[in-house]
Amino acid sequence: MRLLIKITLSLFLTVFFFACKKESSEQNTTNSSSPDKKEFATLNLMPVPAALKRTEGSYRLTKTFTLNVKDGAEPRLYNAANTFLRRLDGRTGLFFLQGVISKEIPQTVENSVLTISARRTGKIALYEDESYALTVTAEKITLDAVTDIGALRGLETLLQLLDSDENGYYFPCVEIKDQPRFPWRGLMIDASRHFMPIDVLKRNIDAMAAMKMNVLHFHLCDNQGWRIESKVYPKLTQLASDGQYYTQIQIKEIIQYAADHGIRVMPEFDVPGHATALLVAYPELGSAPGPYVMERNAGIFDPVLDPTNEQTYVFLDKLFAEMAALFPDEYFHIGGDENNGVHWKSNPKIQAFMQKNDMKTTMDLQTYFNNRILKTIKKQNKKMMGWEEILTETISKDAIIHSWLGKESLFKAASKGYQTLLSNGYYIDLMLPASEHYKADPLPPFEEWSEKEKKYKLTPEQEKLILGGEATMWAEIVTPMTVDSRIWPRTAAIAERLWSPGAVKDEDDMYRRLEVVSFRLDELGLTHIKNKDVILRNLANGGNIHALRILADVIEPYKVYTRNNGGLMYKSYSPFTLMADATSSDAKGARVFRKQVERYVASPTAEDKEEMKKSLAQWKDNHTAFLKLMKGSPVLKQLEKLSSNVSDVSSIGLEAIEKSSSDESWYNEKTAFIKAVKDSSVAKQHSDKTFEDGRCEIKILDAIQTLVDNTNKDLSNKRITTEKEAEEKKRKEKESAGEH
Ligand code: ACM
Repeated sequence: MRLLIKITLSLFLTVFFFACKKESSEQNTTNSSSPDKKEFATLNLMPVPAALKRTEGSYRLTKTFTLNVKDGAEPRLYNAANTFLRRLDGRTGLFFLQGVISKEIPQTVENSVLTISARRTGKIALYEDESYALTVTAEKITLDAVTDIGALRGLETLLQLLDSDENGYYFPCVEIKDQPRFPWRGLMIDASRHFMPIDVLKRNIDAMAAMKMNVLHFHLCDNQGWRIESKVYPKLTQLASDGQYYTQIQIKEIIQYAADHGIRVMPEFDVPGHATALLVAYPELGSAPGPYVMERNAGIFDPVLDPTNEQTYVFLDKLFAEMAALFPDEYFHIGGDENNGVHWKSNPKIQAFMQKNDMKTTMDLQTYFNNRILKTIKKQNKKMMGWEEILTETISKDAIIHSWLGKESLFKAASKGYQTLLSNGYYIDLMLPASEHYKADPLPPFEEWSEKEKKYKLTPEQEKLILGGEATMWAEIVTPMTVDSRIWPRTAAIAERLWSPGAVKDEDDMYRRLEVVSFRLDELGLTHIKNKDVILRNLANGGNIHALRILADVIEPYKVYTRNNGGLMYKSYSPFTLMADATSSDAKGARVFRKQVERYVASPTAEDKEEMKKSLAQWKDNHTAFLKLMKGSPVLKQLEKLSSNVSDVSSIGLEAIEKSSSDESWYNEKTAFIKAVKDSSVAKQHSDKTFEDGRCEIKILDAIQTLVDNTNKDLSNKRITTEKEAEEKKRKEKESAGEH
């Protein structure tokens, strides 16, 4: 088997090498090849390259390290080379002798350790070549790419290769030939629900580039705010932005900054729904009489443009012409999602229009609207993209379908000949673990498709219509202070899914590398690690945050929209500076503990036992320190029960771990306690009335129950069987009631 992998790998390397030689923009979306895990098991590369071979030795870094960009490159590559050099120097503290290079004052190729070459300047466009070949030997490093964008991607890989030992810093010798699996690897940032200032965008662009992502999808307007200056329709920002918007000069600055990192910027103007802000400014375009007021809650709302009013098209024609001229990208997103049709149904003029034109549903009317908007967008030489609701029988084949409600729509769109993109599975606002997003593959092997999806079996040509995917950072309960911790590091796992061969999917290894990537992103200027302490210091009223850190290590914010149950618990101006904002998905203490428990019950070791006991004792004792801190910080009161529950369940864990067996009364008492903690947490998640627990849940409950189960197999088997039966009964009851 291993031999087979090796032969496959060397064959692939040969084929890939020739593929790199000829200039090619073809993407490899198949799952057939990937580097042998052995080759990258000790490296911290993310995303894993398409092909990688370790060779003997290493290149040792000294202060005489130099680099050079071969003739013909544009400033973008020189800038990236300078940034690379300074980042490398910053990590190693070597005080490199080389200063700043430029087109005008280059370094001679002969004298350089690292030679960077790109055959041409890359276009900031879909399908541009991003491949590169990177070779590290003990004497020299070469980075060759078709385009300078490929060279930028290769520089990020080289930085990730940096390693160290007692003798200093080095790059391990490698041969890497790399290219992305999908041409569209995006991050959507919602700047409407909470405005995201320019520095937030820039640092996230830095992080995207580090993870080889190439599209910033900019969600610029929604019910809660219009965030971009229009000179044609100035009331949009005068009346509907609370003074928080990007000027056109700032938009150009962001587009340039992204282009310098090989990243496209695609705007989204969500119509005809999600239109409250627009209608606050121009109520005459609405389907209801108005007036409209700015939305401060989260949810789906009724305000919608009137598609039967010709002035709506005049307005959008002028607005989109202005916006299309600002954004050079070929793609233009018109939203099109979540129009509930309420105002259309209650407007007699609109109803009469539908009847006259034989439109049976509001979706028919929306398709009419979409097809008219498509003409407007086409006139600007753009391609129209929309969320999957726009995929109806009569929507033009020129539209691009953005799948978000379910993956089925992705395959359906491709099978009908539409270009399409996946965001279902990449909703990072749901606060799910990175492993969940990592599993979501836009094009998994056919055997792994669900039965519903299988009816859309695709030809190789149709598979190419699947462009890739985008992580979506919806910002209802996310602020500039917390946005990085909602995006990173989890989005790095999505970036890998979209760049690396599909066969790279070992979750443990992903988490191993994600840990390194995470602190490297912090080094790059992201705030996902550092802001956690800022929030905890605020909660501790300047006191020692040790106890809060320990608590935060085993809890996570409620998931899948339960934190803001019903969308009404938080307004856009609520405080987002509390425990749920300091904590994030994949709480490390809990994740490591769960793994230890899993290993321990399968095959106990003294080492795991000691580690678990240490953690449990720390969590148990933490409540005393928490209570002390709470005295000087009343805002912590809402976490008191949570902290005491963490302490109590940790005591149970400590008892369980020392028991080789337990009697029925002990087992039942401890199991009942854990269940009560869990049930009360679930009840709070589904309530919109309480902030007790700070809208956070404990992530070690199941693992502690596993330790309790380990003391009495008979009772635990019985308990698990009873629970499964109850779940099955509930499922059947729901099914017969017609719920899904
Ligand atoms: C969406 O999440 N409404 C596209």
